Amino acid sequence: MTAETYILVSKNHQPPHRVDVTYSTFPDGDTHCLIKDLPAIKDCDVLIVHSLYPAQNNQLIKLFLLLGLLHDEGVKSVNVCVPYLPYARQDRRHVSGEAVSIDTICRLLTSMGCAQLYTFDCHFMKGASTVTRNGLIIRNFSLGPLLISYCRRKIGHPGIDILSPDIGAQYLTGGDKSMHKKRGSYAALDSGDSYRHIAALKSDHIAIAHDTVVLVDDMISTGSTMLHAIENLRARGIKHIYCAVTHGLFIADCYEKLAALTEETIFSDTVSHINALPFVDVQLATQIIPNWLRK
Ligand code: R5P
Repeated sequence: MTAETYILVSKNHQPPHRVDVTYSTFPDGDTHCLIKDLPAIKDCDVLIVHSLYPAQNNQLIKLFLLLGLLHDEGVKSVNVCVPYLPYARQDRRHVSGEAVSIDTICRLLTSMGCAQLYTFDCHFMKGASTVTRNGLIIRNFSLGPLLISYCRRKIGHPGIDILSPDIGAQYLTGGDKSMHKKRGSYAALDSGDSYRHIAALKSDHIAIAHDTVVLVDDMISTGSTMLHAIENLRARGIKHIYCAVTHGLFIADCYEKLAALTEETIFSDTVSHINALPFVDVQLATQIIPNWLRK
């Protein structure tokens, strides 16, 4: 999808039309948010389509400014579509005293007038479903089936094992083969970094029948999970490895590392990238917008 923010506006459930939002930056770094065509949004239901990644903190402020503006202009309702929801991995407390960050994000969105959030493969939701978290209705869609059918077509023969690198991503495969991943404790929190390294990743309990394996996960961030999983499969003699994920964040040089070790890394355009598969706009048109208009 495009990294641009836009809003869709609809009156009385009629087909929506698009209204542009313009962001600019003041010399001191403050963000400026503008809708030029204000009459177009009067008394309308609004769906904001906005990317929250990269630069998630900055992108959140942009979203909050837009929600504030729509509130001031008295629109009828506001829903938001963010294809990738950052902070969703901070959905529980691993050590005492740390913030459950996604709860704060949900609380802020609710208090800013967002009634429903549409997203894809939200980390804590595990499949197409709806939850209410801190007053915010989150409607989650899964790209797992699309990723897998794309891989099957691409590979072109039935001799494939489809695995997830951890139990949390098993829902994406539609099967029951997942590796066991164990994260360690936080390293270096005092130095300003927070990361829990992978302590172990095992697949001995899984029978692998073919020499082509597709590893399916919700996301690649540092690439550490996939790199451990690939190493594990190589040690078992698997020749052809594909990675398929919904969200490709590709921190540092992990995209290049994965490209060197796999047949292909396949990912959707919930985060924009030149090699991303264009899934989001189709899902918006066929799933999200019809759902929003039914409300
Ligand atoms: C973890 O539970 C997720 O499903 C992903 O496996 C993980 O977040 C990927 O992160 P990284 O690429 O840094 O290993």
